[in-house]
Amino acid sequence: MTSVVRDVLSLARRIAREAGAIQRERFETGLQVETKSSSIDLVTEVDRACEKLIVSAIERERPGDGVLAEEGHGREAPGSEWRWVIDPLDGTTNFAHGYPRFCVSIGVERDGVREVGVVYDPLLDELYHAVRGGGAWLGERRLAVSSRDQLGRALVATGFAYDVHRSSHDNAACFARMLKAARGIRRDGSAALDLCYVAAGRLDAYWEHKLHAWDIAAGALIVEEAGGRVTAVDGGPLPADGSSVVATNGLLHEPVMERIRGT
Ligand code: IPD
Ligand code: CA
Ligand code: CA
Repeated sequence: MTSVVRDVLSLARRIAREAGAIQRERFETGLQVETKSSSIDLVTEVDRACEKLIVSAIERERPGDGVLAEEGHGREAPGSEWRWVIDPLDGTTNFAHGYPRFCVSIGVERDGVREVGVVYDPLLDELYHAVRGGGAWLGERRLAVSSRDQLGRALVATGFAYDVHRSSHDNAACFARMLKAARGIRRDGSAALDLCYVAAGRLDAYWEHKLHAWDIAAGALIVEEAGGRVTAVDGGPLPADGSSVVATNGLLHEPVMERIRGT
């Protein structure tokens, strides 16, 4: 690993832990909760506080880098080699309801290519990271996707977008088909952790429509570095804006995509 990549990784890990500490402290305390794009799309003061902490640390330590951050504190840096893609709190609905599953997600691109990914689950104190070409890790443990090759024995996960009440492109039919095909199905409310769980072999596959760049920037690299496959739902290259994602152990990619397509 070059020294610049080592510095980027170490900063990403440090600020993920610092933001995670805020989440741990504020979990199940009185929170200010507001809505964003729809009545079910929430943001809390903790999402904003975590984002401010992360973005100010990057500005202080790597002032030339671009930052895309979900709650809007980022800034473009045209021509910059490095860009940070931040979801300061992935799993806000869970967090706001006292459901213990959420994380900090920090992906870093170099010239538009995913180079570093860090995801931190503060309640389990689980820190996932990957560097392109360097494998995926949970703490000191190297991760590998599962070797399950039958959908009927697979545990899979998905999620639903915040426009689910009003859109007919709502993932409901795909969900129903998968329910009848997989051993088990989860909707646990944090895309970044869902991806890390595929990397760790805890899940065999995960798919979702209408995500955003910050949901997948870290987790997609972590899955790939654990030996998994990540594509759009039609099997094409993963769109950087997260508009559709299928992440599997590779062996189940085709059967999972068939169920999503309904063919
Ligand atoms: C959401 C979570 C959820 C997924 C949604 C995301 P947020 O992110 O990852 O699991 O189903 O599509 O938007 O709003 O909690 O950062
Ligand atoms: Ca998110
Ligand atoms: Ca978020």
